[in-house]
Amino acid sequence: LRATAPMEAGADVWVADKDQAWVRAVVETLTTSASSLKATVRIEATGKSVELESPLEPDGGGARDIKMRNSGIPGDGDTPAEAPPAEGALRLSGVGLDDLIGLTHLHEPAILHVLCLRYASNIIYTYTGPILLAVNPFQRIDGLYSTELLQKYYLAGLLRSQGVDEQDPLPPHVFATADAAYRSMIDASADYSEGDEGADAMNQSVLVSGESGAGKTETAKVIMRYLSIVGREMKRHHGSSSSMASSPHRKARSGAGAAAAAAASSAASASSPGTPLSPGQGAFSTSHMEHATTGAASVEERILKSNPILETFGNARTVRNENSSRFGKFIALQFDDDGQLVGSRIQTYLLEKVRIVSQSDGERNYHAFYQLLAGTPAEQLAEWGLGKPKDHHYTNQSSTTGLTGHSDAELREETEEALTTMGFSEEQRLGVWRTVAALLHLGNVTFQGDEEAEVDPATAESAERAAALLGVSEPDLAKVLTHKRLEVGGKTMFKCLTPADATTARDALCKQVYGRLFEWLVARVNDSIRHDDDTSSFIGVLDIFGFESFLVNSFEQLCINYTNEKLQQHFNDFVFRLEQEEYDREGIDWADIEFPDNQDILGLIEDKRPPGLLALLDETCIMPKADDGSFADKARDTHSSSSRFSVSRMQQSRRQFAIRHYAGEVVYTADGFCDKNKDSIPAEAAELVAASTFAVTASFFEPTPEEAKAAEEEAAAAAKSQGRGRRRGGGMSKTVSTQFRSQLQSLMTVVRATSPHYIRCIKPNSKAVPKVMERLSLVQQLRCNGVLEAVRVSRLGYPVRLPHDAFLARYACLLPRAQAAAGKPPPPQSQPAERGIWLLSNLGALEDGSFQVGKTKIFFRKGCYDAIEKQRTSVLRSAAVRLQAAARRFVYRSRFLAAREAAVVLQCAVRSRLARKQLRLLQENRAAVTVQRIARGFTRRLAFLRYRSAVVSL
Ligand SMILES: Nc1ncnc2c1ncn2[C@@H]1O[C@H](COP(=O)(O)OP(=O)(O)OP(=O)(O)O)[C@@H](O)[C@H]1O
Ligand SMILES: [Mg+2]
Repeated sequence: LRATAPMEAGADVWVADKDQAWVRAVVETLTTSASSLKATVRIEATGKSVELESPLEPDGGGARDIKMRNSGIPGDGDTPAEAPPAEGALRLSGVGLDDLIGLTHLHEPAILHVLCLRYASNIIYTYTGPILLAVNPFQRIDGLYSTELLQKYYLAGLLRSQGVDEQDPLPPHVFATADAAYRSMIDASADYSEGDEGADAMNQSVLVSGESGAGKTETAKVIMRYLSIVGREMKRHHGSSSSMASSPHRKARSGAGAAAAAAASSAASASSPGTPLSPGQGAFSTSHMEHATTGAASVEERILKSNPILETFGNARTVRNENSSRFGKFIALQFDDDGQLVGSRIQTYLLEKVRIVSQSDGERNYHAFYQLLAGTPAEQLAEWGLGKPKDHHYTNQSSTTGLTGHSDAELREETEEALTTMGFSEEQRLGVWRTVAALLHLGNVTFQGDEEAEVDPATAESAERAAALLGVSEPDLAKVLTHKRLEVGGKTMFKCLTPADATTARDALCKQVYGRLFEWLVARVNDSIRHDDDTSSFIGVLDIFGFESFLVNSFEQLCINYTNEKLQQHFNDFVFRLEQEEYDREGIDWADIEFPDNQDILGLIEDKRPPGLLALLDETCIMPKADDGSFADKARDTHSSSSRFSVSRMQQSRRQFAIRHYAGEVVYTADGFCDKNKDSIPAEAAELVAASTFAVTASFFEPTPEEAKAAEEEAAAAAKSQGRGRRRGGGMSKTVSTQFRSQLQSLMTVVRATSPHYIRCIKPNSKAVPKVMERLSLVQQLRCNGVLEAVRVSRLGYPVRLPHDAFLARYACLLPRAQAAAGKPPPPQSQPAERGIWLLSNLGALEDGSFQVGKTKIFFRKGCYDAIEKQRTSVLRSAAVRLQAAARRFVYRSRFLAAREAAVVLQCAVRSRLARKQLRLLQENRAAVTVQRIARGFTRRLAFLRYRSAVVSL
């Protein structure tokens, strides 16, 4: 991350921190030398001062990249400390900031800060432009999914679609996103008649992603619940209201408000109040559906009941999530022309099969195994010879066998009920559980022998039970586990396997059977809920694994990250399109804006020529002697020149390679790639189960229509090339990567033809507790889930945009400067665009094309924005200095005047006292002289008189 800002002393900044990700600080001093920029910042929380230093890059037009080394944060070592600006106002307005795109400085610390503030106030939803961020609360928040709220969002959406402006927009919510999808679909279908070109535009998709435990599945369920309620009410209302859902062209025209209110209240009255979330199945109550129908379940009910079924067979307890979905899914909710929910199609991706045969500590196998053991009636358990989880190899490898706060027995009841609602017959239900039981027994079978494996007599009973429950003969089962069929010179031969190979064959068979069972369940669920009429529109909800980067990353992570790259590419295209629309709307020329493209990574993974990683893997798997090491070597030889691919010496020795994904570099370890990619069982094993005496079990191995078609094509191709280089087994020969690649291609084709809505789920802490936010992990997730990339993309080109008025208000202080440069006054205020252009053109040093003035907004390139911000800061600074000077002058002058006045008073007093003293002295002098004179006169006179009388007498 790079941050730019005209940083000044006193500025609020964010400083990277190894524990808190980012901490707030204030710049105390800033010194620039010829080669570096040094800053002392005071960390707000601790009050400590920290020294930061950055080599100074040539200052390009005011833009300054600040990438500082932090020397002062204790224990922080070499962590780069960066100092993007923190908006002072952010502190106050963070909680109320519903859309982060409104931040002038939209960067990682700002997003982190606002999300933390909001989360602390139980506000879990926030927009970042077109993305809804949802932070998992790990607790029930009162009223968050209540009927009243649902009703409010429904009503707001309805009014908005009818052109009624919202006074007070509702805060971000998953209901709002679901409603936006629904409204867009309805509005688009009103604009297109059947068969119109562009009618595809009515289809929507809601793409939910996030790491494990972030809340994707719960979010997807809220969306499904919202759409099923709204979609059902449409029909009900259609019958009673003339203004709302009348005809495919049903933008309401009159009495809209009243109709909307009526519809909303009836929607709400039929929905359940927000029920507590549980990590188990059906976290949201569907009780509102219960009374909706009698006899056959309604379509909404069946659609919602698909969740417990998929969760029982496809979810498991992991260290990261007690109810972790171990597969990806895309549920297309289908609506008819009246906006009524009529069906749904489910597509699943990449079930994690290795879990069936091995589980790490703290994790469990799929819920189905424990539900079977906890919820099956005792007689049935005895008949099938089942024990407790600790008695079966596939459920006892981990010490964790239960769930916190949930009982497998109760969950089994829910599954059973869901299967029944979905229309599974008793025989089918029994068949499903019987197969799971068979796998538990098969897992207990072990082999003995030195070179030639045979079933260990101690586990012969398990083998017999497994065979019986699978509907096959025990010797046949033992044979496919301990022997391999070979075709030599047109003859069929059997080669005996070693005990280790037989164990691998057993596990492979179990994985295959369970995988087939899962696919079969999904297919049956689809049969029950799918609506086959092509004319309907749909809203697809994608609940898929987010970007993964672990200590050891394997084939699964490559597939998952490949998926995320695909979705990211789609997302980039989408943001690009939105940007283009904004530029077009504003009349901005966008020809020279470059947007990021991750096609090079996708090419590296999926290209056929030169072969991408998946093609290389397939090639390796066809070779008789090839292994994971040779795949890693081939990958290195083919892609060493790619900037996205690298292998260090150390990695080479460990059969590793690194890919630079959009979310960061991931090191993959090639061990197990080939086996995981082949994921096949010998044709004889598949044929054995396909010939099961139980129709349900046999049907797991019936080729799906697509497989049948692919097999036909393959057979035709094989006939052409006389079968050279092909393996037996029809559909079986497709590798996992080939299947997945084509699944992903078709998913992307579907998604590309829809209007997308994005939800990124965020896991606030790894302990799954409420109110705790682990800031480092949050930042990591923002990077991985593409939010930061999205922000980056949307801020490429002209990242800062301000409405004309806001621009003029902010930069009015630069008018005198511009006027001095231009030598003439600016255009009048009534012409804001002209005034804006005049202002920017006269500020000097702004490069050509660094800003554009649109119809309502002014668009800046980063450098231009930084440059005028710098000018603004310097004008404000010098104004502040002048103000300070005036204020200081006033203060000191006032003090001086007061002092002078005081001095005068004092002087006056002193002088008068002295004068009085002087006067008194003079008066006393004069008095003394007078006294002396009189006294002298008297004595002289007396003497004279005496003398005269003496003279006279003489
Ligand atoms: N909106 C919510 N409100 C309350 N609790 C929630 C919410 N979303 C998720 N949770 C809690 O978090 C748990 C994990 O959520 P969820 O199973 O949806 O994660 P996920 O993203 O699908 O993970 P995975 O990738 O492992 O399947 C849930 O079982 C529930 O307890
Ligand atoms: Mg999930």
